[in-house]
Amino acid sequence: MTLFLAGCGKPFLSTLQPVGEVADMQKSLILLSSAIMILVVVVVSIIFVYVVVKFRQRDGEEERIPKQVEGSHKLEITWTVIPILLLLILAVPTVSYTFQLADVKEMEKEETDALVVNVTAHLYWWEFEYPNQEVVTSQDLYVPTDEKIYFNLKASDVKHSFWIPSAGGKMDTNTDNENKFWLEFDSKRVGQAPEELFYGKCAELCGPSHALMDFKVKTLPRDEFDQWIENMKNAEPTAETELAQAGEEIFEQSCITCHAVSADQKGVAPNLTNFGNRQMVAGHKANTPENLADWLEDPETFKPGNKMTGAYDELKPNEIEALVEYLSGLKVE
Ligand code: CUA
Repeated sequence: MTLFLAGCGKPFLSTLQPVGEVADMQKSLILLSSAIMILVVVVVSIIFVYVVVKFRQRDGEEERIPKQVEGSHKLEITWTVIPILLLLILAVPTVSYTFQLADVKEMEKEETDALVVNVTAHLYWWEFEYPNQEVVTSQDLYVPTDEKIYFNLKASDVKHSFWIPSAGGKMDTNTDNENKFWLEFDSKRVGQAPEELFYGKCAELCGPSHALMDFKVKTLPRDEFDQWIENMKNAEPTAETELAQAGEEIFEQSCITCHAVSADQKGVAPNLTNFGNRQMVAGHKANTPENLADWLEDPETFKPGNKMTGAYDELKPNEIEALVEYLSGLKVE
């Protein structure tokens, strides 16, 4: 089964193909603990088979009782000390890494140069706020490479869990407290994923669309990241064609109550400032006009239990067409 599942690894979402410091530490713990466990299983199995064969009852010796060893100090000490040693070998790096991974002093300073991202998990989407840059986005997380990115994690409704398998994690998002940790993406290794794009997952069963609660992580060199932040701040929704203008009108009558189209606003639904740049619609289907139209027409089939179902009056085919045109044009270069 393990060999079979090992084939599922992809460079953009595998803990076994780490892309940064945190993932490296976690992978080394996975390997160390697996090695210790395999060693124990192998040694115990060999001893077990040996004992069963050697001390089995033989024909004509039904009455023979082998030498009894209970209470042997030598054996008792051996099988107590060996597990203690094994646990110590496992405990030293585990405790050390636990403290290193929980070190978020840098983000808690009054004035900090560290990049902080406030993550809010919702049924079934993700909001990412860069408080020091005053930018809000959703679904696609943009991060610079080669530096620590500090996360403040919380949830708005039920418990979710924030997980970027290639980079490390996971950590729960709760409704009543903030969890904090950091991750790092190594610029030399982000190329292992097509378009330097990694997959993020919700890792806590949260409802019928839990498995569809995905997000993407786009890694950029620091200067390009700064440029992206600048572009997001200056982004303005545009509607160039007549069809898009009709879509904008529908959007402003209905969708705008929940969805923002400028990067300075949080919302009760995903911020759509750069929707046209996203790879996915609703987090799990390719961002094509057909899929977007299907989603607008019937969100429930697309993503069961989502909050968009029933939030607006049914749309006519021409209204959907106009909205698709408008939304696809919401882009940030
Ligand atoms: Cu959110 Cu599972």
